[in-house]
Amino acid sequence: MREYSFDTTAIHGNEDKDQFGSLVTPIYNTSTFIFDSTAQGAARFALEEPGYIYTRIGNPSCIAVEQKVAKLEGGEAAIATSSGMGAITATIWTCINGGEEIIADKTLYGCTFEFFEHHLSRFGVKVRFIDINDEDELKSALNDKTRIVYIETPVNPNLKITDIRKTSKIAHDYNPEIKVICDNTFASPYLQNPLRLGADIVVHSATKYINGHGDILAGFIVADQEMINKIRLVGIKDMTGASMAANEAYLVERGLKTLGIRMEKHCKSAQKVAEFLAKSDKIEKVFYPGLPEHEGHELAMEQMNGLGGGMISFIVKGGRENAAKVTDGVRLATLTVSLGAPETLIEHPASMTHSPYTEEELEAANISPGLIRLSIGLEDADDIINDLSQALDLV
Ligand SMILES: Cc1ncc(COP(=O)(O)O)c(C=O)c1O
Repeated sequence: MREYSFDTTAIHGNEDKDQFGSLVTPIYNTSTFIFDSTAQGAARFALEEPGYIYTRIGNPSCIAVEQKVAKLEGGEAAIATSSGMGAITATIWTCINGGEEIIADKTLYGCTFEFFEHHLSRFGVKVRFIDINDEDELKSALNDKTRIVYIETPVNPNLKITDIRKTSKIAHDYNPEIKVICDNTFASPYLQNPLRLGADIVVHSATKYINGHGDILAGFIVADQEMINKIRLVGIKDMTGASMAANEAYLVERGLKTLGIRMEKHCKSAQKVAEFLAKSDKIEKVFYPGLPEHEGHELAMEQMNGLGGGMISFIVKGGRENAAKVTDGVRLATLTVSLGAPETLIEHPASMTHSPYTEEELEAANISPGLIRLSIGLEDADDIINDLSQALDLV
């Protein structure tokens, strides 16, 4: 439980102050930590004495931001990682063995999909891709080999809303040992706390909203203390080495302090932009959880603190060719992948973030060739609307 509100915790939620009483956590740029004696080094390695050993396993700059993110997510502990993919792969490698199975939604961030579909299979891990909201499909996919149920919500890139509570309950009713892992990147901990809804592990690309300035790669894993200890010693220490560096931890902690106010503005502007796009006759469909006509609207309002988030996607009439007229025609929005930055970012998932999907896989995952993904920035909403309006005029 958090002692303070979200915004207060984002600012004050680290427990340790340094020996000089620095207001801001210093950047501990050191790869390793000195032991007083051989006996002390041995005790630390045996986990009998608390204390730092080596930055791949822990660093005071990282621990400060880990404490905050754990509290903001409602988890016992967290690990700061070098990227979102570092968080995802370290978690999966810790929780799965050859011959076992993962159930995942059929729409996922492109690199997560590629890792699951094209790489885990090389190690004898089977991934079953289903519509996770379809109760019957989920129940029939669960079997004795299932170790992980993996979801994102809102889903990248089509903003589908996955029911975290229902998915977790079905998985745990089948086998309480199954780990439900939720990628909370699109919502950020400000809008949604999957652990409170029954998930076991949360992963983040903190490259996005948590850091919020588009200047670094970062990630987090949040879970109970036992699971975090395991992932730190297996997935991070031995299997990926994907720990966060102290400089990055400093920037993430700095960005985190304004997560609440940034998310409020991202959401408010995205709602306004989505309402504008929904009226355009150049657009076939708008996907935004804050619009009442969105398939997952009610669930989103319940799961996501009553807000629709900062991400919008939409299908331009006329497919890929017309989509490119819009993505090439914007002047204020920036044509680039990633999200959660102060700048409004626009991209074409089928040819960029979701290019690991084949044409058939894109269709199965409901990623239309005409789909455009927008990350609404912190600029004035009317300027963003005017820019999109002139780009849509080119269609
Ligand atoms: C939902 C989601 N998860 C994970 C990642 C991977 O994060 P990173 O680029 O920090 O490795 C991304 C990146 O776009 C993402 O959108």
